[in-house]
Amino acid sequence: MDKLIIDGGYRLKGEVTISGAKNSVLPILAATLLTDEPCIIRAVPNLRDTHTMIKLLHSLGKSVDFDKDTIRITSTHKANYVADYKLVSTMRASFCVLGPLVAKLKQAKVSLPGGCVIGVRPVDLHLKGISALGAKISIEAGYVVAKVDGFLKGKCIYLGGVFGSSVLATANVMMAASLAKGKTIIESAACEPEIVDLAEFLNKMGAHIRGAGTPYIEIEGVKALKGTEHKVIPDRIEAGTFIIASLITQGDILIKNVIAQHQSALLDKLKEAGVNLIVKDNTIRVKSPNKPLKPINVTTLPYPGFPTDMQAQMMALLSVTPGISVITEKVYPDRFMHVPELNRMGAHIQREGPHAIIEGVKRLSGAPVMASDLRASACLVLAGLVAKGRTSVSRIYHLERGYENLDEKLRNLGAKVVKEKE
Ligand code: EPZ
Repeated sequence: MDKLIIDGGYRLKGEVTISGAKNSVLPILAATLLTDEPCIIRAVPNLRDTHTMIKLLHSLGKSVDFDKDTIRITSTHKANYVADYKLVSTMRASFCVLGPLVAKLKQAKVSLPGGCVIGVRPVDLHLKGISALGAKISIEAGYVVAKVDGFLKGKCIYLGGVFGSSVLATANVMMAASLAKGKTIIESAACEPEIVDLAEFLNKMGAHIRGAGTPYIEIEGVKALKGTEHKVIPDRIEAGTFIIASLITQGDILIKNVIAQHQSALLDKLKEAGVNLIVKDNTIRVKSPNKPLKPINVTTLPYPGFPTDMQAQMMALLSVTPGISVITEKVYPDRFMHVPELNRMGAHIQREGPHAIIEGVKRLSGAPVMASDLRASACLVLAGLVAKGRTSVSRIYHLERGYENLDEKLRNLGAKVVKEKE
């Protein structure tokens, strides 16, 4: 396993270009199962999760070529409807092959993804949606087995859950409904930009989807979908992570290939903290104010609310912001594995249920810390950039699941970061 060694105290300066969105490319790769025709997907980030999804598509009968940032997918015509536990258990997003398999092959056997460190992560909304479309669903030996006689049939489906809408459940149902007979309406759909990107991809394949990006999505089913080409949107969470990286090091960086509209909640909170960023076309200039930030309160919510995937990174910044800030995690109430690690670096953070009360400290101190999940890893790297002395972040395979060449991009901005074997 690898670790990152970070010597803190260097202000980031220069330019960084954001890669394609992990949470967009994963469901779009699953959507290629809806056609036997070739598909080309561009601006694909070279991530562990991308390769996991490619392995899964190979196992389901696709031939996949990944060259630089472009994926070319064709069918081998040996379609398989079983998504194996070994692959699905390593990446929850694999579960979004369920909808396409049921719609295209009339059956699917997909391993239940299981939980992960950020929460239980049930799939009840996925199963509610797919069964509403007419699939018969049973749970057998840890697998979801789904079968449909004839065709899926369009339905009006309410997908709201205890924690609000579900991104991948919306994706699963939208993909399945694209080949159903008749019209499907998804109420309380997820509004994330990645859902809009998936809908655009499906419509290019010949689907008839309207309303993606709103809580009310209409899908008019069609008989078949064709191959197409698509360029994936930039990764808004990677962009947000670099915004925090510049601020926490009191740096001055230009972030390129970013859609500012996807950052509204983060930019609004940073404005409240006294930070005004310069948005121009598809770039954001992040120049740290030469006075301390103000403490703020942040609550994570489904899009367009403050993203849960930016919660840990924001906590790193607030841990060195004078005053008392409070973060409330409403999407994954247990998503606080980074708190004890930050406290080992000298932060003063107290957890009270879904709240983290953060008393800003003057300086963190470098320490050996351990990554537990993707965004917690990013948080610890950000803390290491500003901590006094050396920080080593172990188990960075978590980080490599969702950030393309993060250490290289940070080094190019002047950070002292090296990757070493553990
Ligand atoms: C997507 O996961 C993202 N992953 C996650 O990003 C992100 O944190 C999450 O959406 C929320 O924004 C991908 O897109 C690949 P959910 P997803 O279903 O779709 C509950 C990262 O760091 N829920 O929107 O699996 C669930 O427990 C990853 O890039 C149900 O109750 O998340 C959670 O509390 C981490 N029943 C809430 O909904 C269900 O059937 C939102 O989960 C499904 C979800």
